[in-house]
Order: sequence, then C-alpha cells, then structure tokens
Amino acid sequence: MLVILKENAQEVGKEAARMVASAVRANPKIVLGLATGSTPLGMYEELAVLHRAGSLDFSKAASFNLDEYLGLAHDHPQSFHYFMHSNFFSHVNFSPDKIHIPDGSIRSNYSEYCDGYERSIKSAGGIDLQILGIGRNGHIGFNEPNSSLASRTRLKELTRETMEDNRRFFPPGAEIPECAITMGIGTILDARRVLILATGKSKAAAVAKAIEGPISAAVSASALQLHPEVTFIIDEDAAYALTQREYYQRVLELTKKYTPEKLA
Ligand code: GLP
Repeated sequence: MLVILKENAQEVGKEAARMVASAVRANPKIVLGLATGSTPLGMYEELAVLHRAGSLDFSKAASFNLDEYLGLAHDHPQSFHYFMHSNFFSHVNFSPDKIHIPDGSIRSNYSEYCDGYERSIKSAGGIDLQILGIGRNGHIGFNEPNSSLASRTRLKELTRETMEDNRRFFPPGAEIPECAITMGIGTILDARRVLILATGKSKAAAVAKAIEGPISAAVSASALQLHPEVTFIIDEDAAYALTQREYYQRVLELTKKYTPEKLA
C-alpha cells in the first residue's frame, strides 16, 4: 500500500488525474472503475483538460461505475448517471457503448441484474484501475459498515449517516434514496489496481482506520489492506489522524528511487 500525501484537495485531484492519464496512455484499452461524489471531481476536471489539450484519448477505454441510487432514472439530476455524464463523459471521448453504470431504474429481478453487471465486468477483462472515494463511515462504493468483505454487486440499504451526507446533493425537502446498487467489496478487490482519494477533516477518522486499523467489516475500506496494489492519495486534512505520516513519506521517496514505474 502506498500513501501519497498532498497539500490540498486540488493537488489530490491533479495527482490522481496524472496517474489515471498515465495508465490510459500505457493501455488505451484500459477498463476503469469509476466513482462519484465530490472528492473525484477535481480529477475528472483535470482529465478533461488533458483530453481537450489533445494528450489523452479515451476512445478505446471502457468504464464501470461503482454504484447508483435505486429508484432514480438516468436523467434524474441526482442520479450517478447524470453526475457522470455532466462531470466527465460529456467532456471526454468514451465510446457510449463502453460506459457502464448500474441501472437504478430497475424495479425487479435485482439479483439477476447485479449478477449481469458482474458478468459484464468479467467479459470486459476485469477492471484494470479502480478509482474510489471513501464515506465518513469508511464505506467504499455503497458498501456500508458490516458489508461482507467478499460481497459482490448487489442491492444495499443505505445508513442514515450516508443518506444525510448525501442530502447536500439533493434539493431541500427532496426524498433521499434509501437503497443503491453497488459493486461489492469482493468486486472492488478484484481490480488490478486501486486508487482511493480522500480530502478534508471529515474523512480523517475513516482514512486512519482504513490504512492503520484492523481489517474489519465495520470499516469497508480497511479491506483494501488485502489488495497488493492500492494507492491512497489524501490531503493534509484527511491525513490528520494517521500516526505514521513520516514513514509513508519515506516509503514514497524510496518507491520513487527504486521502483518509479509503480508510481507511473
Ligand atoms: C457516496 C459514494 C461513494 C463516495 C462517498 C463519498 O456514498 N457512493 O462512492 O466515495 O459518497 O463522497 P464524497 O466524495 O462526496 O465525500
């Protein structure tokens, strides 16, 4: 596990975009796992800038989004479909048939649908690079505390805390969805490489538990300790509760010196 400490959210976004861009250039047919939320917005903006400048081509890439609210149509302004199209896909050149986002508008046969999503990931060759944010309660995707560490794509009930955290994206008085379709922790762990981003003090406790705490279903992100290729990119505020910051800094310098390709 590599921990990259950056001064602020903007730098986190830039570093993440740099890593994604270099992975796309190295493998134009890359399969990306994508996340929503405010944290990766800077990364998406930066990737769009690189694309407009002519230095980044997504035409052969494929993507699978982590999750979607259940009950929201694709064109609902708070749906993750809408989020992804307005914040990323409309600014870059993915081929529309290679974009996959769970369909929150389904009304039945949930497990068949979710099994199908898993099958599409497999038939695309698996996810090469998974981008993640983290919830205040340590969730990744919508894998709320006590999700099985072996879970696959499924329907998941949201905690009150998550519903409240996401209220800011909805107009005042609007009902917040109570369930979502989310890739499971097992699905995420199957990705070849994982980049997880966190910014702000409100994430500090979750980040510390994910990186330094015991592996526990109580903190879904702690399962990433089982993955051999995980990079955390976090800002000073999100790093606040970590006890080993100087060591992470040293590891980073040594990694640059001995295995720089790992960082590319
Ligand atoms: C939602 C998403 C997660 C995201 C989390 C944090 O619950 N399902 O994928 O990581 O929110 O969001 P934010 O980045 O806005 O803090």
